[in-house]
Amino acid sequence: MDKLVIEGGTRLKGRVKVSGAKNGCLAIMPACLLAPGVYNLSNTPNLTDVWSMSRLLNAMGAHSELNGDNLFLDTRDVNSWEAPYEFVKTMRASFYVLGPLLARFGKAKVSLPGGCAWGPRPVDLHIKGLQKLGAEIEIENGYIVADATNLTGGRFNFDISSVGATGNVLMAAVKAKGSTLLTNAAIEPEITALARFLVKMGAKIDGIGTTQLEIEGVDELKAVDEEIVPDRIEAATFMIAAAMTKGDVELTNVNPYHLAAVIGRMEETGAEIDVNANTIRVTMNEDIQPVDSTTSVCPGIPTDVQAQWTAYMLFAKGTSKVIDNIYTDRFKHVPELQRLGADISVSDNTAIVKGGKSLSGAQVMSSDLRASASLILAGLVAEGRTEVLRVYHLDRGYENIEQKLSALGANIKREKANLV
Ligand code: UD1
Repeated sequence: MDKLVIEGGTRLKGRVKVSGAKNGCLAIMPACLLAPGVYNLSNTPNLTDVWSMSRLLNAMGAHSELNGDNLFLDTRDVNSWEAPYEFVKTMRASFYVLGPLLARFGKAKVSLPGGCAWGPRPVDLHIKGLQKLGAEIEIENGYIVADATNLTGGRFNFDISSVGATGNVLMAAVKAKGSTLLTNAAIEPEITALARFLVKMGAKIDGIGTTQLEIEGVDELKAVDEEIVPDRIEAATFMIAAAMTKGDVELTNVNPYHLAAVIGRMEETGAEIDVNANTIRVTMNEDIQPVDSTTSVCPGIPTDVQAQWTAYMLFAKGTSKVIDNIYTDRFKHVPELQRLGADISVSDNTAIVKGGKSLSGAQVMSSDLRASASLILAGLVAEGRTEVLRVYHLDRGYENIEQKLSALGANIKREKANLV
């Protein structure tokens, strides 16, 4: 098991290329089940979550191979409609196969994902939405067993805006007979990118980029190539790293529109941000100002940036509140940040961060992907040596993070850890 060892105190400087979006790729890969064929997905990040999705699709009969950042995916021989627990428990995004399997085979058996490190993550909206399209769904021995010989269009309102449920129901609706109206659909860039990909495959979808999607089902879709959108969460993490270390970093391969909320908030903290078509440069020459942040659905601050923002605010001159309205229990990073000397208290869905105290390096434990990122950020500024254990969480969603940070001047390396 690996750990990351960081000597804090260096200023980040230089240019970093942001990888393709994990969550974009994990939505588009299952969509390739919809039409048997050969796909080439460029700008694919080399991440363990992508390997996990490949393994799941391969177990169903697909062939996949990652060559550089090109993922070759052949779904012609897929002949199984089952996603076993062993895959879904390691990665919730495996649940995305439910909609495409139903659309392709008229049936699916997909393990329920269960909770995750920061609490329960229900899938009721995925189920209700698919039922509205005519699927009969039973829960048997921890599995969703779904049957829909004739998926038919319907109306469905997502009571809560959900990235995963919107993706799943959309992927089924594109092949359902007749028209479907989805309201309060998620508009996160990865969902919009999925919808555009489906249109490229031959789907008929109106309202892409809005919360109301009108879909006219089609009989046939075709395999097409696609470029995965840039990872806005990785980008936000590097933007915060640049500002926290009083650095000067240019991010390339980004879509600034996807980062508008983060850019706005960071400017309030005193960061200077230059935005171009697909680059963002962050410079910080001042004291970091405390700025409250509340996560919300797109176009707000993403919950996937909450842990990193909490770490950022530790170095601000004053107190700030960090509120998570999406996953209200998502504060597993706080006790670990406290091991570095952080002054944070959590009450309900709010962290009160008292910034300005100097932190000192320590061994800390990753609990989930974004929590790990926040520990690395804090380690970059803390005095002395920080060891971040259980970095396999990080490898799920950050491609070569230590190489990218090293190239920017950070003192960070990967070592073997004895601890599990
Ligand atoms: C996706 C992302 C994850 C990110 C999260 C929030 C992927 C693979 N994962 O997860 O990285 O942290 O969005 O942006 O893209 N909800 C329900 N019932 C449901 C589904 C969701 O009540 O059936 C609730 C959730 O509890 C949560 C909210 O809806 O409060 C948003 O969840 P959702 O957008 O679905 O998150 P995920 O798709 O799980």
